[in-house]
Amino acid sequence: SSNGGAPPPPPRRRRVLLFPLPFQGHINPMLHLGDALHARGLAVTVLHTRLNAPDPALRRPEFRFVPVPDGVPRDVAASGDVIAIIGAMNAAMEAEGAAALRAVLLAVLADEAQPPAACIVFDANLLAVPAAAAVVGLRTLVLRTASAACFRCLAAYPMLHQRGYLPPQESKLYMPVEELPPLRVKDLFYSSLSNHDKMRGLLARGIEAVKSSSGLVINTFDALEAAELERISAELNVPMLLAPGPLHKLSKNSRSSTIIAWLDKMPSRSVLYVSFGSLASMDAGEFLEVAWGLANSGHRFLWVVRPDSVRGSSDGPAGLPDGFEAAVDDGRGKVIRWAPQQEVLAHRAVGGFWTHCGWNSTLESIGEGVPMICRPQFADQMMNTRYVVKVWGVGLELEGELERGRIERAVRKLMEGREGEEMRERAVELKEKVADCLKIGGSSQIAIDKLVNYIHSA
Ligand code: UDX
Repeated sequence: SSNGGAPPPPPRRRRVLLFPLPFQGHINPMLHLGDALHARGLAVTVLHTRLNAPDPALRRPEFRFVPVPDGVPRDVAASGDVIAIIGAMNAAMEAEGAAALRAVLLAVLADEAQPPAACIVFDANLLAVPAAAAVVGLRTLVLRTASAACFRCLAAYPMLHQRGYLPPQESKLYMPVEELPPLRVKDLFYSSLSNHDKMRGLLARGIEAVKSSSGLVINTFDALEAAELERISAELNVPMLLAPGPLHKLSKNSRSSTIIAWLDKMPSRSVLYVSFGSLASMDAGEFLEVAWGLANSGHRFLWVVRPDSVRGSSDGPAGLPDGFEAAVDDGRGKVIRWAPQQEVLAHRAVGGFWTHCGWNSTLESIGEGVPMICRPQFADQMMNTRYVVKVWGVGLELEGELERGRIERAVRKLMEGREGEEMRERAVELKEKVADCLKIGGSSQIAIDKLVNYIHSA
């Protein structure tokens, strides 16, 4: 040949655009996906709204960050009502044929200092993206940050209405949903919400957005949800279905903190980590019960209390009850405002996680072999709890009213009981499966390979 056997030129560098929904539980997995793609040589541009814009200190210097007008009115943003915020954001972004979003996309595409953009990966809730991307000639991929089981359940929403499971009726809450074992009516996504008609419309559009995209990326892994992934492939016409999770394990971004030094002094598996994610909250009475339940358990604990964790006390951390510190003798408990959660769960001193079962927290716990006490509140958290307890056997559910005696018993059961020990063993087995899927040739690495190949061919 004319080039005398010289190696072929390296493929032209490509760029991928990412657009996460602006909530912690959605931003984190999207950025972790970005880390994995960047590690494979792709350039990454992150679109972000003004609302909850990523903290500049936590932004990756190797990514570009581009703001998009979100149009969420201040009072809606301040309400903290996630569904209302998403609704307002979608309405504003879709206004005038998504003019503002299209303008941002065109400017990003025209930036010749950057490698050519191959596609945009957007959060499944950002419904304005598909049409805007189509107009500017950009292919789309959808990222779902919840489980495969959750997506399957959402896709089954019309059926669940037809067959009378939804809207949920008080008398049927414990009825099994035969089509989606092991879920019961009370575990269904959004069964806690009232506006089902609006929800149905949104979900139907979300499913259409997936079908019209080039592919669907779900933050899960084959060995965890094989059956659910198969059912999605069989039942929905998704061109490319990828499960490269747990995404946080593909990212090398880690943060140190003084709390790690505190954990370093604790015996192995002796500390219960307590955190309810970035959104869930409780009232002042429940807060007291949690404080006394933890204190009375006699176990070591690390408890995250965000400034807005207790309803009605948004201007400062809720006060701990009198006598609490004296009851937590030997400094065996710590209360902090925010934790480097992945590092905490990975620490050998942590032996259990009391969680609200947001999907990220669930995956992060599984990834480190830490068994859970589950206290779900809304959205997908009930169904995640059901899988943790019934399918994977790596946790117990704390049901009913939050009451100190009940909390104390749950903590003891997990931290010192035989049942807790069995859950811990199964959690460690799952952790090994996570390690397998992340190895070269493992299912998650293969999924990332496919994604990278797609991006280079697009
Ligand atoms: C929301 C929903 O509530 C959840 O059900 C859905 O699956 C995703 O979106 P959130 O409630 O914040 O998320 O929970 P979760 O999914 O667990 O995400 C929280 C993230 O914040 C995790 O990545 C966790 O590591 C991080 N976090 C939380 C910290 O880093 N430090 C903390 O102190 C608390």
